[in-house]
Amino acid sequence: MIKKGIILAGGYGTRMSPLTKAVNKQLLPIYDKPLVFYPLSILMLAGIKDILIIVNQGQLQQFNKILPEGKNLGIKINYAQQKYPKGLPDAFIIGEKFINKENVALILGDNFFYGQSLTEKLKECAKLKSGAKLFLHPVSNPSLYGVVKINKKNKVLKILEKPIKYLSNMAITGLYFFDNQVVKYSKSLKPSKRNEIEIVDLLKKYNNKNKLSVEFIGRGGAWLDAGSIKDFYDASSFVAALENRQGLKIACLEEIAFSNRWINKKQIKSAIKFYGECKYSDYLRKLIKCICEYIKRWSGNNNCNCC
Ligand code: DAU
Repeated sequence: MIKKGIILAGGYGTRMSPLTKAVNKQLLPIYDKPLVFYPLSILMLAGIKDILIIVNQGQLQQFNKILPEGKNLGIKINYAQQKYPKGLPDAFIIGEKFINKENVALILGDNFFYGQSLTEKLKECAKLKSGAKLFLHPVSNPSLYGVVKINKKNKVLKILEKPIKYLSNMAITGLYFFDNQVVKYSKSLKPSKRNEIEIVDLLKKYNNKNKLSVEFIGRGGAWLDAGSIKDFYDASSFVAALENRQGLKIACLEEIAFSNRWINKKQIKSAIKFYGECKYSDYLRKLIKCICEYIKRWSGNNNCNCC
């Protein structure tokens, strides 16, 4: 089981200036929560409890305020700083000590995932023992992403970063699962023309050894990469539409921690104190009021253990 996960949440967010001049992009809102809650919720849904968040130099305090050490969520949150954006695989070089001898998941801090049966897929991927696994999703504008060409057996034939010429519509999402070789491979990468070490070069190393496999989010699922102001609006509208219709929140961290049995009512109560009087706290209050019914309905577990 992969127990460790990294959220890469640095970068300058240049495309979103002036919003990002004083605030890290990952702390800007997607509807009712900071963006970073969404990738964190994905790692938690995968069952990952030991988390390293990599932020820009000088932005640690901002993150610490909203996501302290993680006790209220029954997880451990560690922080590291990146001096400047050197490329995505730099996460494994910065995170070498954190990863130690284990396998690791990486999620980009600006990626949003949602979909039926996503949790089961995430849990399955977290079982990875060797090699690397990618999450793919079809897109209408593949030239904006890393893209793979796969054959009928889902073998990866070609990988390109932001191809100008059409290769396929299968984009590589910002969620990856790696074995422990990832640290060694990342260290061996040479910077590209744009002076960054590239995630596609890292993936090619695995693919050349026949160690790269793929998973699909599926047609009913959504993947959004919040890189521009329009992306923030689109993702916010998506979350607002679903949450207001269902009365259930996407990426409510305490709810996930609770249904994973990592925290109890007491910790939810201290989370309410932490957030103060707000809609998010109202939701948590509702959650602890009807906790037994909640567990039975949404966790498929008939023994709620609390009544
Ligand atoms: O979102 C999926 C895409 O993410 C993939 O399809 C691409 O293959 C992958 O290269 C990446 O492309 P982007 O152009 O979206 O990467 P970007 O430079 O925007 O970085 C993504 C996030 O990672 C962003 O929140 C900033 C953060 N970041 C990025 C770099 C390069 C860091 O914290 N440090 C870095 O060194």
